[in-house]
Amino acid sequence: MDQNTKKKRVAQAALEFITPGSIVGVGTGSTVNYFIDALAENKLDIEGAVSSSDASSARLKALGIDVYDLNEVSSYEVYVDGADEVTQHKHMIKGGGAALTREKIVAAVAKTFVCIVDDSKKVDVLGRFPLPVEVIPLARSYVAREIVKLGGDPVYRQGVVTDNGNVILDVHNLSIIEPSELETQLNQLAGVVCNGIFAHRNADIVLSATDNGVERW
Ligand code: A5P
Repeated sequence: MDQNTKKKRVAQAALEFITPGSIVGVGTGSTVNYFIDALAENKLDIEGAVSSSDASSARLKALGIDVYDLNEVSSYEVYVDGADEVTQHKHMIKGGGAALTREKIVAAVAKTFVCIVDDSKKVDVLGRFPLPVEVIPLARSYVAREIVKLGGDPVYRQGVVTDNGNVILDVHNLSIIEPSELETQLNQLAGVVCNGIFAHRNADIVLSATDNGVERW
């Protein structure tokens, strides 16, 4: 089964967690795009969504789903988002689509984080996927030098500006044995807005599409 079919399958499976009348947290990326489409197609009669990117907001609105400002929502039930890597402990690397900061914020407000992936994203140890770090433009070189000291190889993602007006460093060659520690350590560097390790706010439920169905842990 090809990857897009798996993404569609897992997006469909996430609908089980959505209650009519609720506000739904919506992440970013190609898997989430299938989820947004499924929300609209299945006419679940949700109240609306909070969204982690301009791209997802535009897609939601185009399908007739209201998008609320997160500041108007003190709490909501379920956030659905993809990941670039996810472990058995439900730790993730995210930010391949440069939306990591808003994803972390929208996920922080949710009671339940449902991560939707295809089985190519499951790993034993995070780090094969280059770790995205969102940085204030002025701090790019400084943060890159500090990351080298931590053993990573940062690469500036040329031509990408985040929804928040910042830049991304993709950090190669990390083997992330202690995700929570590295997440905290990177956040201490002046100029780092956010990094793509989701360990402090990890997923509550992972749905992973395989050739035979949807695995859940
Ligand atoms: C966006 O910044 C990311 O965190 C995405 O959630 C992640 O890259 C997964 O994207 P795909 O569903 O497109 O693989």
